[in-house]
Amino acid sequence: MPSHLNLEELVQDSRVHRRIYLEQEIFDLEMEHIFEANWVFVGHESEVAAAGDYKTVPIGTQPAIMTRDENGDIHLLMNRCMHRGSTICQEHRGNASTFRCWYHGWTYSNKGDLIGVPYADGYGASFDRRRFSLIKAARVEKYRGLVFASLNPEVAPLTDYLANARHYIDLFMELSPDGEVEARAGVHKYGYDGNWKFQMENGVDGYHPNFVHQAFFEAQGKGFGRKVMQLFTGNSEFESKDLGNGHSILDMAPRHRSAKGPVSNLLRGATSQASSDAYSSSMIRRYGEARTEEIFAASNVNLAIFPNLLIIGVQLRMTIPVSAKRTDVHLLPTTLKGVPDEINVARLRAHESFYGSAGGGAPDDVEMFNRCSDGLRVKGAEWLELSRGIERERTGGDGVVVGHITDETPQRAFYRRWKSLMCNVVAESQQPKTLRIARTI
Ligand code: FES
Ligand SMILES: [Fe+2]
Repeated sequence: MPSHLNLEELVQDSRVHRRIYLEQEIFDLEMEHIFEANWVFVGHESEVAAAGDYKTVPIGTQPAIMTRDENGDIHLLMNRCMHRGSTICQEHRGNASTFRCWYHGWTYSNKGDLIGVPYADGYGASFDRRRFSLIKAARVEKYRGLVFASLNPEVAPLTDYLANARHYIDLFMELSPDGEVEARAGVHKYGYDGNWKFQMENGVDGYHPNFVHQAFFEAQGKGFGRKVMQLFTGNSEFESKDLGNGHSILDMAPRHRSAKGPVSNLLRGATSQASSDAYSSSMIRRYGEARTEEIFAASNVNLAIFPNLLIIGVQLRMTIPVSAKRTDVHLLPTTLKGVPDEINVARLRAHESFYGSAGGGAPDDVEMFNRCSDGLRVKGAEWLELSRGIERERTGGDGVVVGHITDETPQRAFYRRWKSLMCNVVAESQQPKTLRIARTI
């Protein structure tokens, strides 16, 4: 049995206790108070572009199916047969208008209605199929193609929840002259023996790249590699930002922008001048020169949307908690609508070179998560230090807290939100009414 300890004491302003990464009881509370009571990212609408398309995806640890019905509506159906509990869909993705449970053959539409029961006369006259529709996520909302679901019917509107993060999501989507990305290039999956929060902390950690990824940057050749490393030094001009609600960003938009420069930076040497020029021109036609500059300048993105979405480089990254000490991660590299193919091919190749399973970067991050899991077994050293920059960060007029890019401002933002949800002290407007008070474990 865990000793009774106030959750509020485990997460403090500048440090967190090792127990929050290790204990299953705390993980179970996270599922209830964070993943089942708020918005969670479940995918991109292009993954289920056609009527009948579906994919399986967990909400927290509960299996679900994201479907698109014949009217074009997206549903999040809980993957649980209403007869005796089997999952009804085993595939990662596909196209089907119905799902038939393998156990006794009950069949459901892709809207979740029970439409077929074998040998139905055995159930008698009182049996009402309508009582056996699949359970659905209480709310499903989209923002610029990103699909979020919530099991809590009282959750605040998604746009309110995303708040300041919307500005950066807009910039990411507007890298397409059509204003839309697609996530149909495949899913790249990995997992690790460690807590889900390691991944969320790491995606917006500007302190680690020059050490964990030093070898990769150096292999890029002196000029480019050194330039990237300059982003993350103590002298860097770039910032980290706490956007509120647990969301945060490493803001690497250069102060002096150029609408042409960043295109060639982004896809360095990988595209022809003709494609690059065609892309730039279509962007300027659509957005005008100033906005195009802003969009390209922000193209080097590390954005965290609490609790489980990271937008990094060209990818949407979904963190999937499995248990206190096991996590799965799905990477969805995106392509831009309305650009020459060559641009999208270059995006995908650049993604693979760093984030692919044989890539030069992401596998090293995963190794660090494994090492942290190992190191945290040491008793007597109970705390993880998150105080970097706490004395120099400042709050802007819009309420955004700004720190240096190497500061732990994003991690503090994450844990402020974590604490408010876990300790049930969120602002009245966002308070999930169905939660029980769980201040102690
Ligand atoms: S459990 Fe699904 S039909 Fe029996
Ligand atoms: Fe990294």
